Amino acid sequence: MCGIVGYNGEKKAAPILLEGLSKLEYRGYDSAGIAVRNKTGETEIVKAKGRLKVLSEKTDGGNAVEGTVGIGHTRWATHGEPSEINAHPHCSDDKNVIGVHNGIIENYQELKDKLARHGYTFYSETDTEVAIKLIDYYYKTYNQGPLYAITHAMTRFRGSYAMAVMFKDYPDQIYAARNDAPMVIGLDEGESFLASDVTPILKYTKSVYYIGNQQVAVLGKGSVKFYDLDQMEIDIEPSTVTWDANAAERGGYEHFMIKEIHEQPKAVRDTINSVVKDGKIDLSEVGIDEETAKKIHSIQIVACGSAYHVGVVGQYVIEGLARIPVRVELASEFRYRDPLLDENDLVIIVSQSGETADSLAALRLAKKKGARTLGIVNVVGSSIAREVDHVFYTLAGPEIAVATTKAYSAQLIAMYALGMQLAKYKGTLDDERYASMIEELQNLPDQMSRVLEDKERIQWFAAKYANAQDMYFIGRGIDYGISLEGSLKMKEISYVHSEAYAAGEIKHGPISLIENGTLVVGVATQKRLFEKTRSNMVEVKSRGAYLMGITNYGNYSIEDTADFVVYIPKTDEYFTTSLAIIPLQLLSYYLSCAKGLNVDKPRNLAKSVTVE
Ligand code: F6R
Repeated sequence: MCGIVGYNGEKKAAPILLEGLSKLEYRGYDSAGIAVRNKTGETEIVKAKGRLKVLSEKTDGGNAVEGTVGIGHTRWATHGEPSEINAHPHCSDDKNVIGVHNGIIENYQELKDKLARHGYTFYSETDTEVAIKLIDYYYKTYNQGPLYAITHAMTRFRGSYAMAVMFKDYPDQIYAARNDAPMVIGLDEGESFLASDVTPILKYTKSVYYIGNQQVAVLGKGSVKFYDLDQMEIDIEPSTVTWDANAAERGGYEHFMIKEIHEQPKAVRDTINSVVKDGKIDLSEVGIDEETAKKIHSIQIVACGSAYHVGVVGQYVIEGLARIPVRVELASEFRYRDPLLDENDLVIIVSQSGETADSLAALRLAKKKGARTLGIVNVVGSSIAREVDHVFYTLAGPEIAVATTKAYSAQLIAMYALGMQLAKYKGTLDDERYASMIEELQNLPDQMSRVLEDKERIQWFAAKYANAQDMYFIGRGIDYGISLEGSLKMKEISYVHSEAYAAGEIKHGPISLIENGTLVVGVATQKRLFEKTRSNMVEVKSRGAYLMGITNYGNYSIEDTADFVVYIPKTDEYFTTSLAIIPLQLLSYYLSCAKGLNVDKPRNLAKSVTVE
């Protein structure tokens, strides 16, 4: 969950590395460092604990560091506390081999003991220092060059890694190695770049290379060669990135999160347009046709965090429309279960980054069990996108804020489209309803924009409740799925203790937590369940709760119960999540701002969880 960058060219490397790291800071932000080789062959390593701006100040924005070849790192601590000594880059004692790493070397202790027996000493608590010193050991022991040393070390590493390594004796090259952690390489005239994702590279080129698992890349100035573990050269074709470089900038907004909240209508529209053609859903690019659909006996949706919450909603939508049994499960649980799966089952993995370690492991287990797999993924070329049988790309563009908003909304569209088309193929959705759902789907972006217009009321409400200690979200059916996501947003960026309950469950325990002034958000968008949820809201209100309600225009009777109401436009009941989630995203955003918190980089969290 760290971010790595590399630059090899003719320009001053340090400012380029720092700028690249600033694009990756969402991946980790407890310390950072760069290593840059100057013309005399010496390498300067500068590290700093804390946010990237500390490193930037220390190096005068990189201007104080000479040299045109370098690597950099922004850290999210796994082994060893955040500190300058644990920050990357790490190097051999003679500074001959220097490297940065994202991921975890699981057997680092065993390798450390081996190296200690050969006289190596360690200064940090990191697995990375061990990895770099192992490469150094093979480099010096066998004297067969960097490629040999790296591939040899790779056969000993267990775990995930994306590494960039420099060797003093090979001053014009950067070596990169990868296994199960993201890494992208880009070339421009006379210069080459590497990074954990495309955002630092977009400014220079849109033609990128995705290095595969257990492969090594050697970056020259404007050139790259790829090798397998046997050191045989392999061909990798470049891919074109469609993301716009400006999409990864804040563009006048105070935070990425609020920018991304406002980008939701576009993310949703683009995703809809990618599959709705001539009034029909076309899944040909996903590769699910009628014959395939009819073979599916059951579906398991597997994901983590907000992507799991998309699965919770997806379960109601797909099962409700297509009448196929759907189960939704957290990837971290699924991967250690022994799930009953065969070739008639479809496993859907939902992931923005396409790199989440638990989701990737779940995918591999599903494949091993013979199930058909489908990924709903935002990052093109990511591990999950490459390993699934079918991929449904969401077109949310780069998402930088740690808390997901627009990628979540785009994932919901993929769920709706899948549910509708599977239903169509299975004959459980008639033509009239199908056509009206397509129309409602296409109305969603404009309706989302309308909901966003109500933001000032929510900002006012958030400021009023900025001191809330606890918050509860309740709803039934799809509204329960919405509540889960609203509650997660509140926890992660506003640090308010919050819980989501199926509204019918509160009487079975949680209601004892309600006292005078406890804030409860009741979500009631489903016609069939409206009165039931409203009764549950009355129950908590009579115990002293202060109630915020979210419902559709027209359900004005909610005002008899709720103290503050947000209305959403009417849409097909299966699509209400797309509208009802917006006030909840705004509530957590404005509450976080009112508390003066770091909205885009909440404490202890990283955007892409590539460790278990
Ligand atoms: C919450 C959030 C996380 C992610 C989760 C899965 O706002 O962003 O809960 O949803 O870490 O990440 P992906 O979708 O990249 O697999």
